[in-house]
Formats: sequence, structure tokens, C-alpha cells
Amino acid sequence: MFNKRVKIKELLQWEPQQQEVTVMGWVRTFRNNQFVALNDGSTNSNVQVLLELGKFDEAELKRITTSASIKVTGIVIPSLGKGQKLEVKATTLEILGDSDAEKYPLQPKKHSLEFLREIAHLRFRTSTFGSVFRVRHSLAFAIHKFFNEKGFVYMHTPIVTASDAEGAGEMFKVTTLPFDETPRNEDGTVNFKEDFFGRATNLTVSGQLEGELGATAFGEIYTFGPTFRAENSNTARHLAEFWMIEPEMAFCDLEDNMNLAEEFIKYLIKYAMENNREDLEFLSQRLAEEEKQLPQDKRSEMGLIEKLEFVLNNDFQRLTYTEAIDILRESNHNKKKKFQYPITGWGMDLQSEHERYLVEKHFKKPVILNNYPKDIKAFYMRQNDDGKTVAAMDILAPGIGEIVGGSQREERLDKLEQRMKEMHIPTEEMWWYLDTRRFGTVPHAGFGLGFERMVLFVTGMTNIRDVIAFPRTPKSAEF
Ligand code: 4AD
Ligand code: MG
Repeated sequence: MFNKRVKIKELLQWEPQQQEVTVMGWVRTFRNNQFVALNDGSTNSNVQVLLELGKFDEAELKRITTSASIKVTGIVIPSLGKGQKLEVKATTLEILGDSDAEKYPLQPKKHSLEFLREIAHLRFRTSTFGSVFRVRHSLAFAIHKFFNEKGFVYMHTPIVTASDAEGAGEMFKVTTLPFDETPRNEDGTVNFKEDFFGRATNLTVSGQLEGELGATAFGEIYTFGPTFRAENSNTARHLAEFWMIEPEMAFCDLEDNMNLAEEFIKYLIKYAMENNREDLEFLSQRLAEEEKQLPQDKRSEMGLIEKLEFVLNNDFQRLTYTEAIDILRESNHNKKKKFQYPITGWGMDLQSEHERYLVEKHFKKPVILNNYPKDIKAFYMRQNDDGKTVAAMDILAPGIGEIVGGSQREERLDKLEQRMKEMHIPTEEMWWYLDTRRFGTVPHAGFGLGFERMVLFVTGMTNIRDVIAFPRTPKSAEF
């Protein structure tokens, strides 16, 4: 029977009154052959377990090593130690699992994040990753809470698809065909009729297209699932497998879409601030310490919590792509040729250095850029009357860059078909998508929030590999 266990998070709320309690967890440290700092993952805080001298078998005590798992039953008493109101005076001790101190790779000292990435299977047991992944959990929960409160239907879109939602060709193929002796057509191309699904399939890059089908029946839906991109970007912001939240709303235009996205991001931040205070305070300290290593001008102007409060209390800056290009072109940064990619003029795609300049140097707050040139955006975005731009929007966050991408969708069948043809998107295969425009089409819009980028923003971590349990990136799929 294990269910008498009290979680340490709950225990630490108790008033010490000699109650009997059973706790279980992993040993963080063991001092003076008496004091165990025990952690069970429910909170960043450890509970102190007191093993009175002489009361326990020496051989047993030797087995209390870092990360050994133990079960302790004892009495809750006031603690004499600093910073803790109670501790557990053990009456019985049971070692559940030994941990060979010589071989255990985590020592009770500071390890680099790079090192911890190599032992991602154990890094949850550190304070930093404990906090990061509890915050990640909370944000995931808050996402469902937000949309549920608004009456959105949670839709599970397929992982295996035959379409390329973004039209960017960055897909992982899904096949059971053999690599040698691949069945071929007469013209030498692969004969996918022989393949498992009888056609070429891939891992989804986005659930949006199926989401649109849902929105044009339920009114408002959202997806929240894994998406896959075979883009060879080895950066601190890109994963090959990441989680995305994609709401899609009928009867909705670009402005409604921007309003919802801003409200959504603020809701998530507020939820974490209210429910993960301890973890955020820990992460805030961690960040401040990490930044001490940096030269003054590279440090953030605000602490983590201060930054989150600032974002909550201020409107995001909205401006058009055209206005952004003007600002960038006129900036001293550009004139002094400090951008790696110089501002060549209207129509160019913005690089993350440009986005970050706008957010971090110019406006110093989140920015919603909108109405981009149609040639740098996806086929499904609604064409504006100027014939040059589409009703797209990206949200750019300080320290991260793009965190949301979305748009109003082209609901006019003729315009959509024409754009698909121009962009070489196969209209016949997408008959089902086009049907929404044939039968009761409506103005509609949606966006995608990159979940890991949101977790980065809230936790103040700087590498996306540190906010997903087991990152998949080019040349790396360990664990
Ligand atoms: O801008 P993206 O490509 O937009 C879409 O996929 C649309 N279908 C969304 C929609 O309108 N329903 O991706 C959306 C977001 C980005 O803003 C970014 O936060 C995140 O997904 N993202 C990535 N996150 C981690 N690693 C990658 N390789 C990412 N690519 C995009
Ligand atoms: Mg995008």
C-alpha cells in the first residue's frame, strides 16, 4: 500500500503538531548522518527528514545516497533549521531503491545545462528542470481551461497526413516501403500505391487545415498536439518535434484573431504567476545568476517575474509589416550595418535578428506584426484589397522572436484556388479543404502558438531543448 503517502508539497503546508506522516521520494542530500533533504517532485522544496543518531542501523544509513529512493514514516515536528517550519522525525526508514553514488551522474552541485541535456532522462531530478516541467504542465492545463471556458471544442487532428499544411515542404515521410528494392513506377518514381496508405504520407506540420473543417461546423475549435518539421535549423528556438496550439474561429477576422491571441498569452502568463509562484521565483533567481556571467549590455533589463508582470499589464504593440520595414530601414542599427541581413526593402522576409530588434530595442514589449507581403506567407491567407498583402499576423516576444503565427483565411473559393495554382499547391488533392469554401463558406481566422516557445518565455530558459522532455533536433533523437 503506497497510498498513505503525503506529497511534500502538501506536507509543507501543515502546522507541525506531532502528526504521523509517511513521505516517499529521492534523496537530494544527506548531512551529518542525520539530515536527509528529500524531494518527491511535487514541489521544488525538499522536506527535511531527521534520522536521530543511534536509532538506525549503520548499514542502512550507508545506503542513503544521492537519488536513492526512500520511504519514511515519522512525526511532524517544528524545525530548528533556517527557512523551514517543519521536519519529519523518522520512526521507520525503508530504502526502496539504492543509487550507486560512484555511478550516479548528478552530484549535489551546479551542472551546466549542456551537460544535463546529455542526461535528459535524469535531469527532471534537478531543481531547474523540476520547476521548468511543472510550469510546462501548468501551462498545458491552462490552455485547456482557457478554451473550455470560452466554449471552444478540442479537436484531435491527425498526426499522419497526406497534405503539407504550410506548403513549405519541410515534412518527414511516413512509409513502410523498403529502402532497397523500393517499388517503382515505369517512369522511375516511387510507387506509393504499394505503400501502407496507398499514397505518399508524412507527419503533420500543422493541424490547421483540419482545424478549419472543425471551425466551419463547431464555430470555434482548438488543437493541441505534436507537430513535426524537417527544417534543418539547429538553433535555440527550433525543434523537429514541437507542440502547437491552434485555435480556429468561424465568424472571425484578423483583428478578432489578434485580440484572442493577446488575451490567450496573457491568460497563460497569469495562470502560471498564480499557480507556480515558487517555481517562477526559483527560475527568476536562476536566470539572474546566469546573466551575471554576461556583459552588462547583454543582460535583461527586467527580472523574469518583473518581465511577466510587464507583459500582463501592457498592450502588445500592433503595426503593419510595411511600418516595421520603415522602422528597420531607418534604424541606426541598419545604417551602421549591424544586421547580418541588411534591410533590402519591402517584400523581404524578416530574419529573427530583425524581429528581435523591433521587440527588444525599439518597442521593448511584445509586438503583433500584421499584413505581410503575400509572397512570403502561406497560400491559405486572406488576400487584402491592395493585391500585395495578406491578412497575416505574427506575435513577436522579447528574448524569443516569433511565438505566434496566424491569419484570417481566404474564404473566397475563386481567390483561394487562384492562389493555390500560383503557388503550385495541388487543388485536386485538397478537394476536401476547398469544400468548406463551396458549402457555406464564412470569414474565419486562427493562429498557432508554439508551445515550447511559450514555455521558454514564461520560464526564462534560453534554449528550447531545455523546455521539452526529450528534444528532437537535427542529428539528435536520444532517449
Ligand atoms: O508560423 P507557423 O509555421 O504557423 C502555422 O503552422 C500555422 N498553420 C498556424 C495557424 O495559423 N494555425 O507556426 C506557428 C508557431 C510559430 O509561431 C512558432 O511559435 C512555432 O509554431 N514553431 C516552432 N516551434 C518550435 N520549433 C519549430 N521548428 C517551430 N516552427 C514553428
Ligand atoms: Mg510563422
